[in-house]
Amino acid sequence: MAVLLSCFSHTFCRRSFIQTCRSCSPPFSQTRLSALGSSHSQNKAVRRKTRSSITALPFDLSPPPIDQDLYDDMAVAGAKVSEDWVIETFHNDDEALDAVDTSTVVVDLSRYGRIRVSGEDRIQFLHNQSTANFEALSEGGGCDTVFVTPTARTIDIAQAWIMKTAVTLVVSPSTSGSISEMLMKYIFFSDKVEIQDISDKTCLFAIVGPKSNQVMVDLNLGDLIGQPYGSHKHYNVGGNPVTVAVGSVISEQGFSLLMSPAGAGLIWKTLLSHGTTPMGSNALETYRILQGKPTPGSELTDEFNVLEAGLWNSISLNKGCYKGQETIARLITYDGIKQKLWGIQLSSPVEPGSPITVEGKKAGKLTSYTAGKRGNEHFGLGYIKKKAASKGDTVMIGDGISGMVVDVPYLARQHPLVPNSKP
Ligand SMILES: *[C@@H]1O[C@H](CO)[C@@H](O)[C@H](O)[C@H]1NC(C)=O
Repeated sequence: MAVLLSCFSHTFCRRSFIQTCRSCSPPFSQTRLSALGSSHSQNKAVRRKTRSSITALPFDLSPPPIDQDLYDDMAVAGAKVSEDWVIETFHNDDEALDAVDTSTVVVDLSRYGRIRVSGEDRIQFLHNQSTANFEALSEGGGCDTVFVTPTARTIDIAQAWIMKTAVTLVVSPSTSGSISEMLMKYIFFSDKVEIQDISDKTCLFAIVGPKSNQVMVDLNLGDLIGQPYGSHKHYNVGGNPVTVAVGSVISEQGFSLLMSPAGAGLIWKTLLSHGTTPMGSNALETYRILQGKPTPGSELTDEFNVLEAGLWNSISLNKGCYKGQETIARLITYDGIKQKLWGIQLSSPVEPGSPITVEGKKAGKLTSYTAGKRGNEHFGLGYIKKKAASKGDTVMIGDGISGMVVDVPYLARQHPLVPNSKP
């Protein structure tokens, strides 16, 4: 039976991490100050008022008895754990890749970052700092939002959960430190915003696959089934606080489970006993590439902007100004999107980074490669100039390896926005 949690009020982490902006002046503070009209300030006052009903109790998780149990439990399941606690494989990669299509898998995403953004101005702050329309969301809801540079290069796609007194962001392992730092840097001295990295205080699992709903029903956690992506609730599982959300950073389907480390081992075992197959990070990377979800360091780099990466579903064009927004608006208005991310069915293995050519001319770059299921699928992701090739075309990669340009599920679900009004 699902019990709404009241135990998230532990006093452990109530101290503020950021009171003022200290020496790191926010890069746009001056321009922002001078650009502020009185209507802006009024808006802010009004918004503050409408949110003042939100109580000041922080959403907190108990302190981290760093838990070896979880990894003991995983070792029993056949895990190969790397030195930095990444579970590379449960020696079942093909089975896990089958299960994610036909049944259900559980993935330990604890190495991903969890950033807790609290304080009265948190919604407006995130609204200003990333692409999603935070002001349109309410408590219990969530969304994907993209962190971009001022020139709209993509830093990461985060999943955001709007909780009672904070927004929790889930970000990639490689960006969690830099995104926290960046956010802190942009806190203006008068902003009431606190940033806290809660990655070490929590564990995160994802359940993915067509039978995920059944698993949730079996665990009496089924009342989120059918709710929109990012919706979440707090539960008590065997005395441990668990936040369950629809979808995860690895799939829009299925669920995320955020919990205190103390309960993670038990929940992991319970999920396995309900028939979910554990998936390690190697199989997860294959799944990611076959799904076509861009990731930092490969598809999301300084080289490519957010529209070339195709992340249309997370971008709001009408929510007003935010970091990167001017560039995004210009790219759309002046048709400045010159290349696009695609899936590529390859004839044999290719190194990521290899050039893509069409009729001998450079047309793009391969960004990810996987041997796929059973090692014989040879599949990649790559950016290709719009004029050079699109779906169904054949391209050459590296030294004479041919590839066919195909749709990938994640990118195919994105709906490009059309400029319907002047910027
Ligand atoms: C967000 O941006 C608006 C408009 O530029 C500004 O008035 C407001 O102070 C900003 N708020 C935060 C918390 O960054």
